[in-house]
Amino acid sequence: MTANELRRLYIEFFKTKDHSEISGASLIPQNDPTVLFTTAGMHPLVPYLLGEKHPSGTRLVNVQRCIRTGDIDDVGDFSHLTFFEMLGNWSLGEYFKEGSIRMSWEFLTSRDWLAIPPEKLAVTCFAGDEDVPRDEESATVWKSLGIPEQRIFFLGREENWWGPAGETGPCGPDTEIYVDTGIAGTADSRPGVSDGKWMEIWNNVFMEYNRLADGTYARLGRTCVDTGMGIERTITILQGRKSVYETELFTPVIAHIERVTGTSYGSDRSTDVSIRIISDHVRTAAHVIGDEAGVLPSNVGAGYILRRLIRRAVRHGRKLGLSEPFLAPIAETVIGMYESVYPALGSKRGEVISELTAEEERFLTTLRRGEHEFEKLLPNLERNPARVIPGRVAFRLYDTYGFPIEITEELAGEHGMTVDRQGFDEAYRKHQDTSKADTGTFRGGLADHTEMTTRLHTATHLLHKALREVLGDHVAQKGSNITQERLRFDFTHPEKMSPDELKQVEQIVNRQIERDLPVDYTEMTLEDARTNGAIALFGEKYDEVVKVYSIGDFSREVCGGPHVGSTAELGTFRIVKEQSSSQGVRRIKAVLES
Ligand code: SER
Repeated sequence: MTANELRRLYIEFFKTKDHSEISGASLIPQNDPTVLFTTAGMHPLVPYLLGEKHPSGTRLVNVQRCIRTGDIDDVGDFSHLTFFEMLGNWSLGEYFKEGSIRMSWEFLTSRDWLAIPPEKLAVTCFAGDEDVPRDEESATVWKSLGIPEQRIFFLGREENWWGPAGETGPCGPDTEIYVDTGIAGTADSRPGVSDGKWMEIWNNVFMEYNRLADGTYARLGRTCVDTGMGIERTITILQGRKSVYETELFTPVIAHIERVTGTSYGSDRSTDVSIRIISDHVRTAAHVIGDEAGVLPSNVGAGYILRRLIRRAVRHGRKLGLSEPFLAPIAETVIGMYESVYPALGSKRGEVISELTAEEERFLTTLRRGEHEFEKLLPNLERNPARVIPGRVAFRLYDTYGFPIEITEELAGEHGMTVDRQGFDEAYRKHQDTSKADTGTFRGGLADHTEMTTRLHTATHLLHKALREVLGDHVAQKGSNITQERLRFDFTHPEKMSPDELKQVEQIVNRQIERDLPVDYTEMTLEDARTNGAIALFGEKYDEVVKVYSIGDFSREVCGGPHVGSTAELGTFRIVKEQSSSQGVRRIKAVLES
């Protein structure tokens, strides 16, 4: 079974169970400052899990592209990926533990669907702690379906608890479904022990709680289900492969890397690691740039993660002997594989290729410059009898010339020297402590619908419309990020805004606030929304029912909410900064003052 077939079957199965298919959201979270990327399918659905009404109903199914860079350093082994696709089914106050487990069981084991032999499955349930009781209910359902007691494991919060996605928000115990890979494990093999024998493919989360800012748990008004099945892992199992890299999602990419480097996958561990890292990172980079709200390499936030991914891929290319740009054709292969599922990727092909290549060239220049600096320092360094390059020197190369520590170590090795890595790490840490630019990004957010973030969200709609009135209809949202303090809005516009234009925009927004306009929504198909002149941002499907928020007669925009009831609640809108975000994209930061 291919990934495409699995995607189709999953959606079809849940449609037979009365679920409506909804689109996945952008990889770059809109209006949610708690994360840099969409890390799970539940993320864009947080408002609905907390009680907002979803226009498509109470049973939903979708595919969500996700990026998790938390364990970026583990990429290179058999299973860690920075980009993956998650299949999800959702109950918003409908079925709960029993219904969810029964449906998962049917989809996995029925001959009409995945037909995985039941004896290959094992599950874990929440063991309970002082806050929340042991999840006997889920275990009882599993037993009734035929999973014997010895394949039901009760584990703690580390394993069997999910959420919140940020610091606050919906969360609850989960039950995880594992498949026996056939790989011989260790003596204490069990789900949750990563010895290769048990692979987790599906996670059913029973959202019962809302974690509040003070760390306590409040019961949710209605219970919800959030499940996530990883496509890459599941097809690995269904195809009887040992790793995700042996599936059709990677083999064409790997074949390409083998061809250009003259290496062969499977012949040598360190080569394999480099090939896996290049394939994973290029795949992620292509999706990030080619997303509907794509970002470009930069030194902050998501752009910085992207830059790290690209540069790491380049470094591993060098390890395999490549010194000229090589990422673009690999990205072409990735785009070819996914463009029918994610059309934006295809339409942004040119941008993906040119941005990747530009970043790659920039980095190669950096490397050459760093090498040159290193050569200049060399006579001095060689005078050190211990043949150790001090940490602060390595850090300066890194900080001033962007020269990665691994390359400094590589060059040091070539000259019979080592690097004081501890000294480098210390200098690095000190630097990090003084330059946490972005930590505010991870606090608060959409998950806690504080009054201020909701007000700023409504102000963002006003700003968007005002920009279109002043600058023209080419203005399109490229990103939105709200903290408790300010809104940040990225939009397409080719040049710096003049002071006069900024003043006009501010005045228009403040005029709408003074008019005390009601904020309300109606539900309609996306097609009707477009016909009605609503601003719609991303690639939702045409027949999908969406919420269209209107602010009086001034603005109409497809959006999930939440918003204030009336613009009079907003106070005074003030633009504090207008700057460039990336080529052709401007960024406005604005605040509301009372
Ligand atoms: N939110 C859960 C996860 O990411 C289930 O979808 O695993």
